[in-house]
Amino acid sequence: MPNRPDTKDEWRALETHAYEMQDIHMRDLFAKDQTRFNDFSLRLDDLLFDYSKNLVTTETMDLLAALAEAQNLNKWREKLFSGAPVNVTENRAVLHTALRGYDGSILNPDPDLEVGGEHIGGFIETTLSAIKNLSDKIRKESEFTDVVNIGIGGSDLGPQMACEALTSFADGPRMHFVSNVDGAHLKQTLRKLDPETTLFIIASKTFTTLETMTNAGSAKRWLGDLDTGKHMVAITTNTQAALDFGIQAYHILPMREWIGGRYSLWSAIGLPIAIACGFENFEKMLAGARQADTHFAEAETKKNIPVIMALLSVWYGNFMKTRAQAILPYAQNLHRLPAYIQQLEMESNGKAVDREGRNISYQTAGVIFGEPGTNAQHAFFQLLHQGTQMIPCDFIAARDDEGSLPGHHEKLLANVLGQTQALMEGKEDENPHRNFPGNKPSNTILLPRLDPYYLGMLLALYENKIFVEGVIWNINSFDQWGVELGKTCARTMLEALKGTTPANADSSTAGLLSYMRGEDGE
Ligand code: F6P
Repeated sequence: MPNRPDTKDEWRALETHAYEMQDIHMRDLFAKDQTRFNDFSLRLDDLLFDYSKNLVTTETMDLLAALAEAQNLNKWREKLFSGAPVNVTENRAVLHTALRGYDGSILNPDPDLEVGGEHIGGFIETTLSAIKNLSDKIRKESEFTDVVNIGIGGSDLGPQMACEALTSFADGPRMHFVSNVDGAHLKQTLRKLDPETTLFIIASKTFTTLETMTNAGSAKRWLGDLDTGKHMVAITTNTQAALDFGIQAYHILPMREWIGGRYSLWSAIGLPIAIACGFENFEKMLAGARQADTHFAEAETKKNIPVIMALLSVWYGNFMKTRAQAILPYAQNLHRLPAYIQQLEMESNGKAVDREGRNISYQTAGVIFGEPGTNAQHAFFQLLHQGTQMIPCDFIAARDDEGSLPGHHEKLLANVLGQTQALMEGKEDENPHRNFPGNKPSNTILLPRLDPYYLGMLLALYENKIFVEGVIWNINSFDQWGVELGKTCARTMLEALKGTTPANADSSTAGLLSYMRGEDGE
């Protein structure tokens, strides 16, 4: 029986409700209800999630919750945590939550769960002890002053974002991240490094990714006569390819198919975090994520932070017809968070066919973009305040920052408050150029501090939000076929750049090739 959300009564009820909400201003919702903040905010430990500045009423949330129920959220969540193959197009389990929750708890009801004939618990224990042993060794016993992670996408964004976020916890070797196949990236990174004291981590689930393998090859050449076995570590599912590349078996950390690239930060792909900040801090990050997962698994819909984040996203995208969401961390150390969440959301939910392979006509993921505040205010906030489209925003900040400079942190927080209030309330002015319509929605997520535990919690909330969206949209959030065609075409074009233009090339490609080969006479 096809599971189309847009044919259900719950969907139609939301369409009608959205029409009714068109003339409502959030200013009035706040004026009418002095307890709105209490009703529309939640806590998880000391994390505060305020969603009161959204264009919603209790009725909106009830209708959205009914849609989630109609889409069998409970069943899908159970399936996810139980290790069922929810990645239907690749027939794979999706068990990144087990990496942070394997303790026989609710997150893995069956402690003897096996995938592909392998005991999951055993694999996770092996992985964690490999991360611990190697990170301890590199931090305490080696002469490595610099570690360069070579990877791309999920094998780069997660560990890089987390290492940046946890800068104030970093007391290990300096971490560097190289992802782009543009030689400038590796070249500039290596410029000030000494091969004798540099360790490379080649992070690639497949160990076939063009960018990563090209950078890894150049890094190997840069090491010259130095022992690749000592200076290179691999993290991959493809052990043979890593061995063939010259990496020693004891330096190969395992990955598995059931760990999606963009969800792999919690696996051995997180090794750079443990090297930079210590394994105890890596474990704290896992613990924060585990707490978010437990909350996601157990809290009722209306008190469930990731579910509400997803419901709001569906509300705006499908019923208010918004096209984008902004991620605005008011913390410089979270400056890679928007890019990380961009991959998480857009690679997971940027789909136009449902689980059954049929085209769908409703919107799925919108464009995710963002920059840290306050910088973003001086760049694109004009459009948020006065542009023609509504862009829901997530403001993320830490209440305390002991390491900040005198007078800085309160100014940062004041801007969070000032901006969210201005977006919501607006300000009438008879001069249209100076008029602020307001009624622009935002969530505010406040952490007590930016530490490993709360970083882990924050990231897992977003992961689970994205899963819930996928359930409501009836799409598979865990494949990414859309990245394959471009990769194939690029391989053909690499040959074309060296040789002749393929006979079937369109005139644009032929013209560009001709320019690139220096044949157009200029
Ligand atoms: O091209 C997209 C992608 O497959 C991502 O999903 C993944 O995170 C990235 O490439 C890197 O893949 P790998 O870890 O196999 O090198």
